[in-house]
Amino acid sequence: MASYNCREFDFIASIFGSKICLFVTINMLETYDKTTGMECGSELLKNQFLFDPAYRNLNHGSFGTYPRSVRDALRQSQDECEARPDAYIRYAYPKALDVAREAVASLVNAPVQTVVFVPNATTGINTVLRNITFTEGDIILYFATIYGACEKTVTHICETTAAESLKIDYTYPVSDDALCEAFEKAVSQVKAAGQNPRIAIFDTIVSLPGVRVPFERLISACRQHGILSLVDAAHGIGHIPFDLTQLDPDFLVSNCHKWLYTPRGCALLYVPERNQGLIRSTLPTSHGFVPLPTGGAPINNPLPPSTKSAFVVNFEFVGTVDNAPYTSLPAAVEFRKAITWQGKSGEDAIMSYTQDQARKAGKLVTKILNTEVLENAEGTLGNCNFANVKLPLDPTMLAGGETGKAVKIAQWIANKLVDEYSTFIAIIFHAGAWWVRLSAQVYLTMEDWEWAGNTLKDVCERVSKGEASE
Ligand SMILES: Cc1ncc(COP(=O)(O)O)c(C=O)c1O
Repeated sequence: MASYNCREFDFIASIFGSKICLFVTINMLETYDKTTGMECGSELLKNQFLFDPAYRNLNHGSFGTYPRSVRDALRQSQDECEARPDAYIRYAYPKALDVAREAVASLVNAPVQTVVFVPNATTGINTVLRNITFTEGDIILYFATIYGACEKTVTHICETTAAESLKIDYTYPVSDDALCEAFEKAVSQVKAAGQNPRIAIFDTIVSLPGVRVPFERLISACRQHGILSLVDAAHGIGHIPFDLTQLDPDFLVSNCHKWLYTPRGCALLYVPERNQGLIRSTLPTSHGFVPLPTGGAPINNPLPPSTKSAFVVNFEFVGTVDNAPYTSLPAAVEFRKAITWQGKSGEDAIMSYTQDQARKAGKLVTKILNTEVLENAEGTLGNCNFANVKLPLDPTMLAGGETGKAVKIAQWIANKLVDEYSTFIAIIFHAGAWWVRLSAQVYLTMEDWEWAGNTLKDVCERVSKGEASE
């Protein structure tokens, strides 16, 4: 299968109209072929993506992006749906969804009946937490660097149910051993208070700073203590290898729209069969919900009957929305198979290239800025596609470490990067310093990171001269 790139064509087409398009198309198509592949960092691979040529996409980690062939698959699903709406939504779509579920299940080595889709990690985390019936004394354990929206979810659950929460505190760089010990200490503390550590939420890779978490060890620790493990793998599939059968978490949600190159609105929710009875409702509740028997008349379900499991059927239709991001997943998987790097191919090539690039980018940018990378004693924080680099900014300008001002400076930098440098890099204030999160990808090279380093140097000089306080 060939896929085509014609970004200049799109631009010229809008200026000159359709006749000249044909000519330009013939001259500018860049094809890729499954058999020859696309090498990481090559122009051929970069040109499969849909970027504005003037924009450097240095923050893949926040919202991801997808190539032209996935865009085409998305449009094709949407076209099929519009051609015969009822026939598609009621009969063809569930089959296309199963194909996508099979594709994702085989990537993460999970039985297909344990895998369904939700629109995003936030929905997945909410779905699990809001299905658990909490009783007096139940504690939700979570870590200090949890994603903000997930912490707010925990807060809301604690406001509205019997659950209470315990946040495990630390400051990066923390060692894996120290993090696991902190978890054990929290569990002991809860038990000593006569309470029940019911569920623990932890990331595979933290959002900000972008660091790897020893989630494999935390899953095992939960299993030993009889605590339900809820893994926030928003940065998961397509980023690091997963074997869910081996890991065996109680619940795991992973965005596909971040690192797998699917359109936004596609995340995997993994629930092993032993826990599927706990997840009675989707969010929102829809036709698949099976009410407890009351002796009353059954509630009408307008969808065709199905022989699939209650869990799978439940997540098949969750209100009327555009489900084309789910059905585009196989195209993303196909695209990834054609990616190569130094004799490797597919997932192996992508993950080797991006992790190598993140380490090298961290070194290069710290050299330009004369600062340091955030890393722990074991050197494990950087085992991912992120490198967190300290900015050369003097925290004493904050007059007493005022965090409000620190956040304003970070916002000023982010804003300038978009408005004046045509890029974006995620930035946080952590452990008394500003850090940028470099986000490696197959369409980037070290030339991009050299540019990023010099750009950050320039922006920091402007902050030091007082521009951010004007
Ligand atoms: C660790 C983590 N959890 C959850 C989310 C939420 O993802 P989404 O916005 O796709 O729901 C993110 C997004 O960046 C994240 O980094």
